[in-house]
Amino acid sequence: MIERMEGKVAFVTGGASGIGLATGLRLVHEGAVVVLADIAPERAEAAAEGSERLSAVKLDVTDEFAWEAAIDDVVRRYGKLDVLVNSAGIAPFTDIEACTTDEWRRTMTVNVDSVFFGCRNGVRAMKDRGGSIVNISSVSGLIGGPNSAAYNASKGAVRLLTKSVALHCARKRYGIRCNSVHPTFIETPMLENVLVGVRDRERTRAALVASVPLGRIGRAEEVAAMIAYLSSDESEFVTGAEFVIDGGMTAS
Ligand SMILES: NC(=O)c1ccc[n+]([C@@H]2O[C@H](COP(=O)([O-])OP(=O)(O)OC[C@H]3O[C@@H](n4cnc5c(N)ncnc54)[C@H](O)[C@@H]3O)[C@@H](O)[C@H]2O)c1
Repeated sequence: MIERMEGKVAFVTGGASGIGLATGLRLVHEGAVVVLADIAPERAEAAAEGSERLSAVKLDVTDEFAWEAAIDDVVRRYGKLDVLVNSAGIAPFTDIEACTTDEWRRTMTVNVDSVFFGCRNGVRAMKDRGGSIVNISSVSGLIGGPNSAAYNASKGAVRLLTKSVALHCARKRYGIRCNSVHPTFIETPMLENVLVGVRDRERTRAALVASVPLGRIGRAEEVAAMIAYLSSDESEFVTGAEFVIDGGMTAS
C-alpha cells in the first residue's frame, strides 16, 4: 500500500457517489483520514461503516453557513485540514434556448457557489499549515458544447476561480495549492442520469465513446488517482494548473 497520505486529513464533497466516493476511498487507502460530505450521505455512511479513518457527514454545498460549521467540525475533530476536494455537482444538459432561469441559477449555485464557499473555508482552515485544494471542473470547463450552456459556464468558472485561489495563496505564502481536474465522460451515476434522459440511450452512449480517442468511458478510480497525486506532497510545486483526464478528447 502506498502511504503518501499518512497523517493527512481530507474533506471530500460529493463523497457519497462517483468521483467523490472513489476519491475518498483512494485517499483512505493511501493513509489519510477522510470525511465524505454529501447532501444525501447514505452511501457514504455505508462505505464508512466500520472504518476508523472514513466518516460521512451531511452537507448541502450551497449552504454557506453549513460549510463553515462542517469545516470547523473537521478541525475540532482532527486538529487540522490538509486536503479539500470539491466534487459535488450537477449536470443538466440543455442548450441556451431550453435552459430556464431556474436551471441556470441552480447549476451556478451547486457547481460554482459551492466551490467558492469550499475554497474560502478551506483557505481559512489551512492557511497556517498549508494544504491542497482540488476542484473538479470538467472538459466542459475547457471546451463548449451546444447542449451545456449552464454546465459549460459553471465549469469554466471553477477553472478560473481555482487559478485565482492558487495565486492568492502563493502570494501570501500560505503553502496552499489549488488545482482543477477536468474529466470527460466518467462511468458514474451522473453519466447514467444524463443517458436516462435521452431518446436512444445506446446510440448516445456509442457516440460518447466515439468522441474519445482512447475509445472508452473513463472510470471514477482513474480520476481519483489523479486527485490523490494532487492531494499529496508529491505535487508540492503544482498550483493553479488544469489536469485534464479525457482519453485524448481535447487534444485535437
Ligand atoms: N461523471 C462524469 O462524466 C463527469 C465528467 C466531468 C466532470 N464531472 C464532475 O465530477 C464531479 C462529480 O461527478 P460524479 O460523476 O461523481 O457525479 P455523481 O452524481 O455520481 O456524484 C455527485 C454527488 O454530488 C452530490 N451533490 C449534488 N448536489 C449536492 C449538494 N447541493 N450538496 C452536497 N452534495 C451534492 C450528489 O448527492 C452526489 O453524491 C461533478 O462536479 C461533475 O460535474 C463528472
